[in-house]
Amino acid sequence: MTSALFSPIRLADLELANRIVVSPMCQYSADDGSANDWHLGHLGMLANSGAGMVIVEATHVERLGRITHGCLGLYTDDNEAALARVLAHCRRAGTAKFGIQIAHAGRKASSQRPWEGGGPLKPDADPWQTIAPSALPFGENWHMPRALVAEDFTRVRNAFVQAAERALRIGFDAIELHYAHGYLAHEFLSPISNRRKDEYGGPLAARMRFPREVARAVRAVVPKSMPLGARITGSDWIEGGLTPDDAVAFSKALKDDGLDYIDVSSGGVIATARNPPTPGYNAPIAERIKREAGIATRTVGLIVTPSQAEAIVAEGKADMIALARAMLDDPRWGWHAARDLDAEVPRVPQYQRAGPKLWSGALKRA
Ligand SMILES: Cc1cc2nc3c(=O)[nH]c(=O)nc-3n(C[C@H](O)[C@H](O)[C@H](O)COP(=O)(O)O)c2cc1C
Repeated sequence: MTSALFSPIRLADLELANRIVVSPMCQYSADDGSANDWHLGHLGMLANSGAGMVIVEATHVERLGRITHGCLGLYTDDNEAALARVLAHCRRAGTAKFGIQIAHAGRKASSQRPWEGGGPLKPDADPWQTIAPSALPFGENWHMPRALVAEDFTRVRNAFVQAAERALRIGFDAIELHYAHGYLAHEFLSPISNRRKDEYGGPLAARMRFPREVARAVRAVVPKSMPLGARITGSDWIEGGLTPDDAVAFSKALKDDGLDYIDVSSGGVIATARNPPTPGYNAPIAERIKREAGIATRTVGLIVTPSQAEAIVAEGKADMIALARAMLDDPRWGWHAARDLDAEVPRVPQYQRAGPKLWSGALKRA
């Protein structure tokens, strides 16, 4: 049987060896936005995971858009040079293609790293003024954001464009907009966090306006040959929040704006919201988006085993799957999935002797 998970896929002009994607994962380890040796080791390792593509963690388009003091950014020449060094290493070290997620944290910026508590930065930890569609905090005791005014819209939109231009110069294979997890774009989309009375608030079409303006501005500088996608929210998982119907409508709009794929995630718009604890909890929403919006779809969330990933793709629920924690647990997840599903993964020449022959030989002798 041929594996659906290990069949190639094309996004714009980019050919991926399989449908496995390493989900973007913040490392909270950068120096004023600049990648360093941690990222060299971490991303170099994932370049050999067997995944067709690795998406680099949320990389923030302006300094005040970072989640934590340790988050990656792409807002200075130093940031660009540092990430170029890491990507050059990954190209030499492994087989995966590399995309980058560009992001703005909105009212969830100015936070502690998860291992420092994950809450808002305390007054002695150099906090900064956050921005959001409305002056509503993320949760109890969180920073009060300032509502965006006209010049913020222009600055943030331009910052997304400039970060995309830097990503192009660095040589990434794909660009992904972070429109989920309660960060700035999601804050505009969700009626929970957007209470604006102007043309950027109210009905869904108005709440989509700013994220769509950013998407179109970025698309204008990213060549058609390069995939541009977005990670969106399938559900806020709270009464009165975004629903799968909204996610379908937003996906259709982003397709009209020229995007090549949608990655379906969910949750994170307020501190008390909780995602369902069920395996593959976003897959049913991805299935609807794939069918109703007619755009290449990826999904993520508690996908852990190869058979589970294979079923999601084979049953047409999504075109690609992304894994985060399972990849940290087993950074050769793709190799091991290929073994289970009787498929092949590309391997660098240095590691070829660990290929299928090892296992067939060992099994014959066992
Ligand atoms: C350490 C860590 C960092 C993360 N950072 C990001 C990020 O930068 N951007 C993003 O969209 N999601 C981020 N996420 C969410 C994951 O990409 C993924 O959507 C989530 O963990 C669910 O997938 P999983 O069940 O395979 O872990 C992060 C998750 C983890 C565990």
